[in-house]
Amino acid sequence: MLRRLHSEQPESFAFTPANQKWAEAQLTKFPEGRQASAVIPLLWRAQEQEGWVSKPAIEYIADMLGMAYIRVLEVTSFYFMFQMQPTGSVAHVQVCGTLSCMICGAEDLIAVCKDKIAEKPHTLSADGKFSWEEVECLGACANAPMAQIGKDYFEDLTAAGFGQMLDDLAAGKPVVPGPQNGRYAAEPKSGLTSLQDFDSGKAQYNASAQLATDIGDGIKRIQGDEVPLLTPWVGKDGVVAGRASADQPPKAPEAAKPAAKQAKEAAKAPVKKSAVVEPASPEGAAAKVTEEQEPKTLKEARGGLPDDLKLLKGVGPKLEATLNDLGFFHFDQIAEWGEAEVAWVDNRLKFKGRIERDGWIAQAAKLAVGDETEFATKAKKDGRYDDE
Ligand code: FES
Repeated sequence: MLRRLHSEQPESFAFTPANQKWAEAQLTKFPEGRQASAVIPLLWRAQEQEGWVSKPAIEYIADMLGMAYIRVLEVTSFYFMFQMQPTGSVAHVQVCGTLSCMICGAEDLIAVCKDKIAEKPHTLSADGKFSWEEVECLGACANAPMAQIGKDYFEDLTAAGFGQMLDDLAAGKPVVPGPQNGRYAAEPKSGLTSLQDFDSGKAQYNASAQLATDIGDGIKRIQGDEVPLLTPWVGKDGVVAGRASADQPPKAPEAAKPAAKQAKEAAKAPVKKSAVVEPASPEGAAAKVTEEQEPKTLKEARGGLPDDLKLLKGVGPKLEATLNDLGFFHFDQIAEWGEAEVAWVDNRLKFKGRIERDGWIAQAAKLAVGDETEFATKAKKDGRYDDE
């Protein structure tokens, strides 16, 4: 199938405010200069919001990540999970047509799609509510035949039941994902042969179907505020681990300018005496100028009692020893680091970027005042620490 930009494109694209916040938070997952790594999640969220990936969406995301438009188009057209043409406003139905599903009746489901939606795949139904396509194995072969709509799998389908499901969706009636023949999950159709005391009555549906039903996001377009915390590395207070406040924006867009542009700007920038200049990598990574400042250090732990720095996620015994050698023994010392101090320490560690990535400062701030972090609690309980 030829995958190219659709002939009809919307005027513009923008994330909803909640999705924009979510997208910006994605950028914080990656080291500076590597924000292009967020391209797939951002394209996916654009598709979840709009139903497909339009040219304006590609350009918007490329601008956000400092990537050339063609690069984002290449990613979009490479992965078949991205729809490059408008999809049904209610549902885009993906029917698995691979072996197990084919043997168990996928052709009948495709016939339903042709009858109720459109003769050809990737074509909108007359009312614009539906579209469909045949896809390769979706990994639910034990529940064949099946179809995916949005994030959800509808399994153990029959042509009649599937047709009714489409009618229900068209009428705005809720449909429950998961097996449609009374099975709870993928147990034998004749009933359980083992784990028979398994209490399947705990939830009405299996975990995936129950979650979709509970949060009611089965087929709806994603606005970004459906689930309270879709960015677990961002604290409930909105502070990204390693940043001082919720207002401090991610540095990513600036850092993610195309390598050539960044190198040009870096060349123009006055380099201070204490600056560390990272040359562009062979892959064309951006040049980066970071001013560093030595943090306050100690010759030895106060009162001879160092804090257990291994309670910080990302710090193992070796890294703790390195930190001690550098003059850091206490959480409150680490909690005080600003950007320049982080740069100083970072430049003396084996792997750069882990302070920010693992959120040492936010963790240290909590531990310094006697609060617990999830990692510290677990580490104390298990007696295990992060590997280096
Ligand atoms: S063959 Fe259809 S899910 Fe695997």
